Amino acid sequence: MNTHLHVTAWALAFILFIIAVILHKQGKEKAAKIVQMILRVDYLLVLYSGGDLIMNYLNGNSPYLVEAIIKGLAGIWVIAAMEMTLGKVKDNDSAKAGWIQLIVAFVITLTLGFFRLPGGFM
Ligand code: HEM
Repeated sequence: MNTHLHVTAWALAFILFIIAVILHKQGKEKAAKIVQMILRVDYLLVLYSGGDLIMNYLNGNSPYLVEAIIKGLAGIWVIAAMEMTLGKVKDNDSAKAGWIQLIVAFVITLTLGFFRLPGGFM
């Protein structure tokens, strides 16, 4: 029921993340900071809607409970990897480890979300 909110929230997070990276690369620190602030508020929406979706599996007899929890942990990992990557890009450090984590976590999250777990908006 909250899947639309969830998908909207993380799609928005992804877009804001890319914009923040580009702004940092362009040296537009002030604009990047503002975008990153909005991104952090949006994380809360991702966490809230994701937590709400997990509740659907907590009725005691869902065979997908473990996968739903792993999906949630992978989602939290996506957020952590975004933060790590942005921090490195901002400091002009190598962000390679962040990007790799982001890709791995994102693939796991999307696979479990779209192809394994039964709920969905499509
Ligand atoms: C940026 C991070 C995240 C991404 C990219 C992401 C992605 C997705 C996708 C693609 C779906 C499937 C939507 C559908 O079937 O229509 C989904 C559902 C779900 N997500 Fe996330 N998510 C993220 C963060 C989280 C977090 C932090 C949590 C938990 C706190 C979470 C928990 C869930 C749950 C429980 C579902 C429901 C699965 C189902 O019933 O099919 N997600 N998410």
